[in-house]
Amino acid sequence: LHGNMSIKNNTLYIGGVSCVDLANKYSTPLYIFDENLIRENCREYRKYFKVDENSNKVAYAGKAFLTLYMCNLIKEENLCLDVVSGGELYTAHKANFPMENILFHGNNKTIDEIKMGIKLGVGRFVVDNFYELDIIEEICKENNKIQEIYFRITPGIEAHTHDYIKTGQIDSKFGFALINGDLYEAIEKLSKYKHIKLVGLHAHIGSQIFDIQPFIDEVDIMIDLIKEIKEKYNIDLKEIDLGGGIGVYYTKEDKPKTIKEFCEAIINRTEVKCKEIGIKVPTLIIEPGRSISANAGSTLYTIGSIKDIKNVRTYVSVDGGMTDNIRPSLYKAGYECSIVNKMKYEKVNNVTVAGKCCESGDILITHANIMDIESGDILITTSTGAYGYSMASNYNKIPKPAVVMVSNGKANLVCKRQTYDELLELELI
Ligand code: LLP
Repeated sequence: LHGNMSIKNNTLYIGGVSCVDLANKYSTPLYIFDENLIRENCREYRKYFKVDENSNKVAYAGKAFLTLYMCNLIKEENLCLDVVSGGELYTAHKANFPMENILFHGNNKTIDEIKMGIKLGVGRFVVDNFYELDIIEEICKENNKIQEIYFRITPGIEAHTHDYIKTGQIDSKFGFALINGDLYEAIEKLSKYKHIKLVGLHAHIGSQIFDIQPFIDEVDIMIDLIKEIKEKYNIDLKEIDLGGGIGVYYTKEDKPKTIKEFCEAIINRTEVKCKEIGIKVPTLIIEPGRSISANAGSTLYTIGSIKDIKNVRTYVSVDGGMTDNIRPSLYKAGYECSIVNKMKYEKVNNVTVAGKCCESGDILITHANIMDIESGDILITTSTGAYGYSMASNYNKIPKPAVVMVSNGKANLVCKRQTYDELLELELI
């Protein structure tokens, strides 16, 4: 149990709302978000990253989970927003998110996306490569605008996480590499771009990282670079964006640091390092996604078929799977689950929770410890709030589930369940 979860009459409640009632009212699969926990995570980041005190910035990484409602919530909590596509930018625009508080990422922003970003007036482009520089310059010139940018660099840090979500190593599709001189070449080219203003540097070393040390190494590299760039090119870079946030709890094997520990370590190291090499402490930016939304989200499923292969394994199948949570199939990610209508049963079985897709790899949890399971029970997987809904697909023509925010005893539908007709809406005969 975490956040605003509690148990009454053997039933799980989140935000004061019964999960059984939610399943009955909105059907399953269903994403549930504990709204107060999202807000609390935002506030922790603001507080410990010293947003008010030092004018540092926290930008929520929209790729983790972004809807109109979420944009509003992030706006209300006074966070900035990191977007990576025209679609995310459009969502923010439609939610009236202040464009000056948006960072626009991507290793291959299309010309249309760049146009859209410049016209809407996003605060910072995080420029990933030479190709993008030419396009930004041209579009800014046509629109008589000056665009502030960061250069994304690949710092050469190998953090311990799944290969697919590592980004800091030199062999990466993202950013200007430090070792082959790309960054210096980009800086030297800047004089020919009259409509681009470099104001900072960005790096992202990966996601779901528990160690603080790689972030400390990243701080050191970035601060050294700021000094070097000042000395070599007389350019004052006042902003350093360190990328995503800290890893989170999914299963008992995970031992995450708190938001407080993470932020304090970064801020302290920055101050020490700047003092050591004699430069002014820059404005720091971080872009947490997972650590804001993951633990606040859960998914409800209804259990259907139960297949017991004697002395081998019991498959417990649910009415969703890799279409609403691709992470187990894609990264072998682990999850924990419970039966929300049987929270106190003592008898524990080791079973495999399977999804309903026509794929043997559609397994949500290989070793789940759940009790006296029967068809019709409601199963919850926890920590599904990041990279769940945002990576959902319509494989097997399965409609995307609804999303409900719960808080203070009330449920609020923020995203409707997709219908079969909506699945066909784009198709022509
Ligand atoms: N900033 C940049 C430039 C990023 O690439 C990412 C994540 C973030 C911020 C947010 O990182 P976070 O705070 O969430 O760790 N689909 C994968 C995660 C991919 C992360 C991609 N970039 C997963 O489900 O584990």
